[in-house]
Amino acid sequence: MSHLHITSWVIAFVLVGLATTFTRSGNEKAAKISHMILRADYLLILYSGGSLFASYATYGALIIIKVLVGLWVIAAMEMVTIKFKKKKPVGVWWAQLLIAAVIAIVLGFGFLPLGILPA
Ligand code: HEM
Repeated sequence: MSHLHITSWVIAFVLVGLATTFTRSGNEKAAKISHMILRADYLLILYSGGSLFASYATYGALIIIKVLVGLWVIAAMEMVTIKFKKKKPVGVWWAQLLIAAVIAIVLGFGFLPLGILPA
């Protein structure tokens, strides 16, 4: 499940990059398709993250924070992609995406017990 989780969020970062790059280059159709695949990929992130969460025996503060920050990453990805498409200011969402992603990755790989790099 860890592999699915990691694969699905890595793909999500690639798709945010593709969707914004296509929007910038005026290829709206490709941007729209990338965004649709990104939205489907959120479901994989939620499913794999949810399954990892369900495999916990006891729930401490860190894993609750990890889940909330994971949801924050998804929200920021969606906001970046939408605001970019609508040509609205997007800097504050890029910043949130960066901050949330760093926290999620550091918590996931560095501090939480499950997965391919157990803490
Ligand atoms: C795009 C957003 C996300 C990123 C970048 C991310 C990042 C990570 C990373 C790096 C790990 C460690 C993987 C491993 O060592 O195998 C992890 C594990 C985990 N993630 Fe996420 N995650 C995200 C979204 C979510 C969401 C939305 C949820 C909840 C629904 C979630 C729940 C979990 C759980 C429960 C674990 C297991 C923690 C452990 O190792 O004990 N994640 N995540």
